[in-house]
Amino acid sequence: MKDGINDRTDEYGGSLENRCKFILQVVQAVSAAIGAERVGLRISPAIDHLDAMDSDPRSLGLAVIERLNKLQFKLGSKLAYLHVTQPRYTTYGQTEAGAHGSEEEVAQLMKTWRGAYVGTFICSGGYTRELGLQAVVQGDADLVAFGRHFISNPDLVLRLKLNAPLNRYVRATFYTHDPVVGYTDYPSLDKGNVGVERLSRL
Ligand SMILES: Cc1cc2nc3c(=O)[nH]c(=O)nc-3n(C[C@H](O)[C@H](O)[C@H](O)COP(=O)(O)O)c2cc1C
Repeated sequence: MKDGINDRTDEYGGSLENRCKFILQVVQAVSAAIGAERVGLRISPAIDHLDAMDSDPRSLGLAVIERLNKLQFKLGSKLAYLHVTQPRYTTYGQTEAGAHGSEEEVAQLMKTWRGAYVGTFICSGGYTRELGLQAVVQGDADLVAFGRHFISNPDLVLRLKLNAPLNRYVRATFYTHDPVVGYTDYPSLDKGNVGVERLSRL
């Protein structure tokens, strides 16, 4: 969808209308097969990971959302959710594309998209328990999703409920092939002493 990477010259490239076409077709087809209420969509307009950047993320996000709203209206049913993930510049530092965004700018973008979408809105990207609670209380999201904390905490929901300390994630094992290390060897609260080494098969 992003103009920094989409160089198509057919009906899926160029204008916002064209760049939104594929995602809408996919959502429509999956909704027709299993029902819109079982379909969730995740978009990342403000993330520039792996060169996928857009010159105007705000308009891109709004373009998708406006079309989703129309589709939902046409189908007479809302999607299960729209999930938008955000960069947290203060957490990650400079973006991959070299831009320096401000956290305030991104927060404003998220508010704009949240306000535009008619349905359940999930946010993610650099949330802690406190920031997540704040987002929901302030009405910035209906739900908060966790990525890295989920990887390193098999019982993340329980820990968040109890306000218990979280295992620290190990970035070095995020993209490894090992089926255990970094995937299933993080300890649960009740197995607090089970170490990485003991469970590793490789
Ligand atoms: C190991 C790993 C793999 C990921 N793979 C994807 C992916 O394939 N597609 C995607 O949209 N996001 C992917 N993400 C991003 C996460 O979905 C999430 O947006 C990101 O980690 C920010 O949330 P967090 O701060 O709670 O971790 C990945 C993240 C991690 C750590």
